[in-house]
Amino acid sequence: MAGGTLPATNATAPHPDSPPRIPAGLLPRRVAVAMDGNGRWARERGLSRSEGHRAGAGRLPELARAALEVGVEQVLVYGFSTENWRRSPQEVSGLMRLAGQALGAQRAELHAMGVRVRWSGRPGRLWKGVIGELRATEELTRDNQRLTLDLCVNYGGQAELVDAVAAIARQVGAGTLRPEAVDEAVVARHLYQGDSGDVELFLRPSGERRTSNFLPWQLAHAELVFMEVLWPDFERRHLWEAVQIYADRHKRRGG
Ligand code: FPP
Repeated sequence: MAGGTLPATNATAPHPDSPPRIPAGLLPRRVAVAMDGNGRWARERGLSRSEGHRAGAGRLPELARAALEVGVEQVLVYGFSTENWRRSPQEVSGLMRLAGQALGAQRAELHAMGVRVRWSGRPGRLWKGVIGELRATEELTRDNQRLTLDLCVNYGGQAELVDAVAAIARQVGAGTLRPEAVDEAVVARHLYQGDSGDVELFLRPSGERRTSNFLPWQLAHAELVFMEVLWPDFERRHLWEAVQIYADRHKRRGG
């Protein structure tokens, strides 16, 4: 990962704390984050759920900066799950509108930070405008190398495995892949991001202790860290704390 001074961003106030210095061998390279607790954050303030999601979406650049500053290479965030379609039509359309707006508003800032953004998920029922913003963000940031930010939008872990199995079955059916040749590496190559390795740290704020169909394959060996903070209150120090917890656990296990 390239070094250098981070550009200032207007989305995050200067933070008094600095990231922990973690030896490279104890640093998680890939971190998954479930952006949970927007609804509760809004309810506590007498606001609508959409306002909670809006506040939550505003934390994405903070998360990216936190990752960059501590040296994490890849962050995967759960933006909209295949289960989220079951929410009320108002909440779903609010989330679709917000996702498009947030991407449009944050694209340049993420690009200036050197973040490569990728989308993982099914097109399916996703609004065309959201797909357009996702594609435009991918296109703008494709050559960036400081951090990869995987936005999981209309993503489901079981759906990802189904899609991988179907693609593999098509090749077996066509005679271009022998069933005996199907192993972990072949399955991994057919996930949405074929180059993704294991995710080492899963962070879920809001006090919930579930992985909720997020990255079941990639999280097979991950450390799970649960925090009480609600996502809209998320600050850089929360990621740093989770990374420190990961490093401490890893050290106890002998590195
Ligand atoms: C979970 O909180 C959060 C979501 C279902 C949506 C998260 C989405 C965003 C923060 C914006 C997406 C932005 C982009 C760019 C993809 P919850 O509603 O389940 O909270 P609760 O458990 O407190 O009700």
